[in-house]
Amino acid sequence: MTDAKTPKDKANAMWGGRFAAGPDAIMTAINASIGFDRRLYAQDIRGSRAHAAMLAAQGIITSKDAEAIREGLLTVLSEIEGGDFPFSEALEDIHMNVEARLKEIIGEPAGRLHTGRSRNDQVATDFRLWVRDQCDAAISGLRALIEAALAQAEAGADWVMPGFTHLQTAQPVTWGHHMMAYVEMFGRDLGRFQDARKRMNESPLGAAALAGTGYPIDRHATAKALDFDRPMANSLDAVSDRDFALEFLSAASICAVHMSRLAEELVIWSSAQFRFVSMSDKWSTGSSIMPQKRNPDAAELIRAKIGRILGATVALFTVMKGLPLAYSKDMQEDKEQVFDAADNLMLALAAMAGMLSDLTANRDKMEAAASAGFSTATDLADWLVREAGLPFRDAHHVTGSLVAMAEGKGVDLPDLTLADMQTVHPAITEDVFNVLGVHNSVASRQSYGGTAPDQVRAQISRWKDML
Ligand code: ARG
Repeated sequence: MTDAKTPKDKANAMWGGRFAAGPDAIMTAINASIGFDRRLYAQDIRGSRAHAAMLAAQGIITSKDAEAIREGLLTVLSEIEGGDFPFSEALEDIHMNVEARLKEIIGEPAGRLHTGRSRNDQVATDFRLWVRDQCDAAISGLRALIEAALAQAEAGADWVMPGFTHLQTAQPVTWGHHMMAYVEMFGRDLGRFQDARKRMNESPLGAAALAGTGYPIDRHATAKALDFDRPMANSLDAVSDRDFALEFLSAASICAVHMSRLAEELVIWSSAQFRFVSMSDKWSTGSSIMPQKRNPDAAELIRAKIGRILGATVALFTVMKGLPLAYSKDMQEDKEQVFDAADNLMLALAAMAGMLSDLTANRDKMEAAASAGFSTATDLADWLVREAGLPFRDAHHVTGSLVAMAEGKGVDLPDLTLADMQTVHPAITEDVFNVLGVHNSVASRQSYGGTAPDQVRAQISRWKDML
């Protein structure tokens, strides 16, 4: 783009007709979005090609002009992809950069492209196409992550580990059961992106500035060409809402929360105090001063990603609240937030899937921990209800006394002798030892969705069929 000499010549080439002077340099800086919205170039060119083809099919422009536009746009596309496109801040955004370059390449017909269209429906279309692609990327990232968690669950469907509440040992569960809890969460995340994609798959193109257009355009044709299910039904809504981006960000935030929780568990489990898991070298880092260290940096970074993803979500909600219909320039602030959140979500999904695939669960460590901490106290209370006929509240109390006794002796429940136990309640028999072992404990939890290995395996095969 050439620098003009007089102020009048500096007025914007696209909309400067009524302006006597060009903008202040700071106005240009605050107004320009080309620094970031150039990421929408492919969507912008795709939208323009669909629009031009439709204009010709409707007899609004000649097929000769449409052909020149089509060829020219392909040249622009290859220039951008080849890295030799002269992006100009003075031309504000990707839409005007592409159109101005098209004019340099094909001349006059370029000026006919913007017939029956506005940058307002153009940006709404480009951005929807981009976010739709991100939904697809999130869906495939989640599939890979679910597969990694399923593989862990399958390998350790009957490996016993402590289940926690309040991060205190609660009851024994299986490694497979724990992994499958995340499969359920990530499965719902996947469903959220699928739902959002379906809802956003309507075309804003042809809504024009806000009111539609008097040209005999065919919005159904452009919607079809862009793989949208249909055109959006209200032109004001089409140019002024960004709920598709908010929905993407909301789904991304929930997914990032889930990944953050798993990441936190991996950080705890890989510590010297737990050693439930060993991270592979591929996903660990060392310390520059402490030679013994293996730090779970990838897990920590995934744990932190929710900060910026939720930050982007709050930012866009805040931008959108209180905006009157229809388009306002505030909405230009939507893109960087969504770009950043999407980039970081995809990175976190890939890192989590890789880390989980390469993770070794330490079966013996987990089982030893599951047996400590009186984790089968509930099984003992249930035995007293079932075999000795005690009301659950009394059984709870008796078991509490037995735990206190074991704690006093510095042993675990299965280490108490029958004689010791009978001093607390005479109805206890040798049979009680059958429920004090952690394997019996998990095997007994056969309720649907429970931790019994059979139940876990049934859920694993249900998921495998679904994927
Ligand atoms: N760069 C603008 C955006 O991202 C494009 C739409 C501009 N429309 C306008 N009427 N100024 O929102």
